[in-house]
Amino acid sequence: MQHSRLKRCLLPSLLLSACVAAPAIPAIAAPPPAPSRALAVAGTGVRADTVPVTVAPLGLPTPPVPADNPPSREKIDLGRKLFFDRRLSFNRTLSCAMCHIPEQGFTQNEMRTPVGIEGRFVKRNAPSLYNVGYRQHLFHDGRESSLENQVWQPLLRENEMANPSVGFVIETLRTAPDYGGLFEAAFGRGPGIETIGQALASYERSLVSAGSPFDRWYFGGDEQALGAAAKRGFALFNSAGCARCHTVSADHALFSDGAFHDTGIGYARAMLAPDGDTGKVRLAPGVEVVPEVSFSRPEANDLGRYEATGKAGDRWRYLTPSLRNIALTAPYMHDGSLPDLASVLRFYNEGAVPHAELDPLLQPLGLTPRQLRDLESFLAALTGDNIQRLAEDGRSTGIGDTGLQ
Ligand code: HEC
Ligand code: HEC
Repeated sequence: MQHSRLKRCLLPSLLLSACVAAPAIPAIAAPPPAPSRALAVAGTGVRADTVPVTVAPLGLPTPPVPADNPPSREKIDLGRKLFFDRRLSFNRTLSCAMCHIPEQGFTQNEMRTPVGIEGRFVKRNAPSLYNVGYRQHLFHDGRESSLENQVWQPLLRENEMANPSVGFVIETLRTAPDYGGLFEAAFGRGPGIETIGQALASYERSLVSAGSPFDRWYFGGDEQALGAAAKRGFALFNSAGCARCHTVSADHALFSDGAFHDTGIGYARAMLAPDGDTGKVRLAPGVEVVPEVSFSRPEANDLGRYEATGKAGDRWRYLTPSLRNIALTAPYMHDGSLPDLASVLRFYNEGAVPHAELDPLLQPLGLTPRQLRDLESFLAALTGDNIQRLAEDGRSTGIGDTGLQ
């Protein structure tokens, strides 16, 4: 295990609290065509005619919906508008979509961990929101289970959107002229603690993405849909034990067992000093100082599932993420410490981070470079068929500039 992979970026720009380490070797396989990374302008996208999603896409079950919040077009349209609205943060600068960027897999590709309001440090990588409606547990530690309730964490946390109270958010929306009548049309009542969560959750549940080359081959029976390398990669995915946690069922694949495992990243973060961390800052070639103030990012104290349960055995366990659209959602792991899929595969091949609590399913694999490339081809074949459409659908919303206080 090369701990240097977990190395911190010592001199991040003062604005960015974390950064992605440069990959040790270039990514092996060419990534699949990704939608444009350029940040599209609000109001320019094409609204997808996908909502509400009631039919199971190839490779996924029918999306679950809570009985007390059945989806409707009005709710989804309102939720989309809220998701992209920067007025939902205390200083009116930060929207949900700025940490969950549609063109970057509904996460952020450029930073290990996102930057909150006024440049504040956020300790975990932003999960992708594709297929989030299928998740039983939310957040890397599973501390929330309802999308409706989840929204209040980013809205109120002082290092994310930093609103001072629920009432403050409600008042923002109640007085914004461009929201006039929208909540009433969707819910029969105005903005409130429930309806704001229900609208955002309805939009998030529409972010369903499957129908990948793998799905067309495995569930659709189309032999041509998947190349030979990716097929070999899928065999390895099973034989190397990946599918024990990233599960594939008979008629669908969530690629997650919905459980929490210790893969050693949390342990390594807490217990192993990153290589080369001398505390020195390089000002110019040959000029180094040990500053009296620290420019490195605040230390993340992250105990994983323990933070949600308080049980000692849950320390450093994290929720198994889905692998759908995984080629689009770098960097990886709860702290964003692995910059690309090749690094993730090297990590598993070396047996993760050996320590007492390491999940017994993780052992050194001894895969050859060619086998690792095959596995990567398989992972790259998990990209859904509607990525571009979901990104454009997001940008179809107009964000009002009116009502700014
Ligand atoms: C400052 C960046 C930031 C903003 C703004 C933000 N998020 Fe997140 N989001 C994160 C991070 C980081 C996590 C993971 C936190 C954790 O696991 O403790 C997360 C987790 C989530 C999850 C759980 C996903 C999963 O698979 O577990 C959902 C859903 C979500 N955010 C939706 C939203 C919504 C809706 C908004 C706007 C109201 C929002 N986020 C605003 C960074 C952000
Ligand atoms: C013991 C259960 C387990 C096994 C076996 C396992 N994983 Fe994972 N995997 C996890 C967990 C848990 C995480 C999240 C770790 C974290 O956030 O720190 C993860 C993360 C990942 C990620 C990063 C996902 C993201 O969005 O950041 C990829 C890619 C991945 N695993 C692929 C694989 C492959 C390929 C194999 C087989 C070689 C494998 N996993 C074996 C549990 C497992």
